Amino acid sequence: MNPEQSLQDFMNACQVRVEAALDARLPAAAKLPERLHQAMRYSTLGGGKRLRPLLVYATGQALGVAPDVLDGPACAVEFIHVYSLIHDDLPAMDNDDLRRGKPTCHKAFDDATAILAGDALQALAFHVLAHDPALAVTAEQRIAMVETLAMASGSLGMVGGQGIDLDSVGKELDLPGLEAMHIRKTGALIRASVRLVALARFGLEEGTAERLDRYAKCIGLAFQIQDDILDVESDTQTLGKTQGKDQVNDKPTYPALLGMAAAKEKAGDLIDEALDCLKPLGAGAESLCGLARFIVQRHS
Ligand code: IPE
Ligand code: IPE
Ligand code: MG
Ligand code: MG
Ligand code: MG
Repeated sequence: MNPEQSLQDFMNACQVRVEAALDARLPAAAKLPERLHQAMRYSTLGGGKRLRPLLVYATGQALGVAPDVLDGPACAVEFIHVYSLIHDDLPAMDNDDLRRGKPTCHKAFDDATAILAGDALQALAFHVLAHDPALAVTAEQRIAMVETLAMASGSLGMVGGQGIDLDSVGKELDLPGLEAMHIRKTGALIRASVRLVALARFGLEEGTAERLDRYAKCIGLAFQIQDDILDVESDTQTLGKTQGKDQVNDKPTYPALLGMAAAKEKAGDLIDEALDCLKPLGAGAESLCGLARFIVQRHS
């Protein structure tokens, strides 16, 4: 099987797996309060690339941690991600109508329900990580995992990046400022997706954990650069979200600051660095390598 086909098979299998795992962990739509649970399910199920869960399972493959142990962490990172998307789309933030090819949560429901759905998904993420019975780790490991997800999500991570994003509208960020924003708003959760698995693996040697962390830091930044590039170069149908919104909202982005060619070069360099980090991990890291390449080759 050629590497591209095996990556595609891996991605398909993980996407099916995580869809079922998310479904099983979300409250039923008929459970009180129905409208809130419907909104949580509407935004979480049936869409998205599932990149963060894919990174969880691919890191598990590299480190020998079984997928059934990792369903909880995979769902936890996706719940945080979906909450961040719901809030990111609100009128007070990016004011977007389309997400994953369908109306955004606040359009399909209403602003207040979308706020609550995001809040509840965040709480659910931590509940799953704290509770999931299949996550066979010690109490200390579990606490370290909860701490990692909390740091990646809060004001020093994703929410902090979103704060910088909102503060920067209409301002010229310099390159270190732009990088600091991207590393937080998108990079932190991608980095946590890899780190959670390193924490779940008993006796992982420090050097391997550090290499994986560098890999994740590089692909996290590259992912947001590619997101900025696609906002310019792709189209609404392919993206499943409205193309060109960064310019309309006057957001600082890599293409706006560096120009398109330099933005692409930067993303490519980061992927090369990420691939270098994986070399000592050998064949088990094949899916992690494939996902790194996918990040800059994707069209949506
Ligand atoms: C979009 O993330 C928002 C960013 C953090 C850039 P994704 O591109 O991973 O969105 P989905 O999950 O595939 O819809
Ligand atoms: C959002 O970045 C990052 C999040 C934490 C959700 P963007 O605002 O660029 O994401 P899109 O382009 O709306 O998906
Ligand atoms: Mg945004
Ligand atoms: Mg947005
Ligand atoms: Mg974007």
